[in-house]
Amino acid sequence: MNPLELARARPGPAFTVTFDGRPVEALPGQTVAAVLWSAGVTSWRTTRGEGRPRGVFCGIGVCFDCLVTVNGRPNQRACLLPVRPGDVIGTQEGTGHAD
Ligand code: FES
Repeated sequence: MNPLELARARPGPAFTVTFDGRPVEALPGQTVAAVLWSAGVTSWRTTRGEGRPRGVFCGIGVCFDCLVTVNGRPNQRACLLPVRPGDVIGTQEGTGHAD
């Protein structure tokens, strides 16, 4: 039994977003992090100093490990941000700004 069945969830129709240029299926109500995890992506940021990979750590908006660029805006918390149809999600390197 998958999580949707366990929760007896009946989400609306799936839609598509992109992650680093590839199409990824999403469901209404999912966060960016949930969509990326569902697609098998566990890392979408690199640290400023050593370029180490990061993804979800706390999952509740506290640690800021999950920062990601969405629609050109860097430093969005993937674990809190609801995904929207057509979102363009990209790996964030360092601060996400050209510096
Ligand atoms: S995983 Fe900690 S803020 Fe998103």
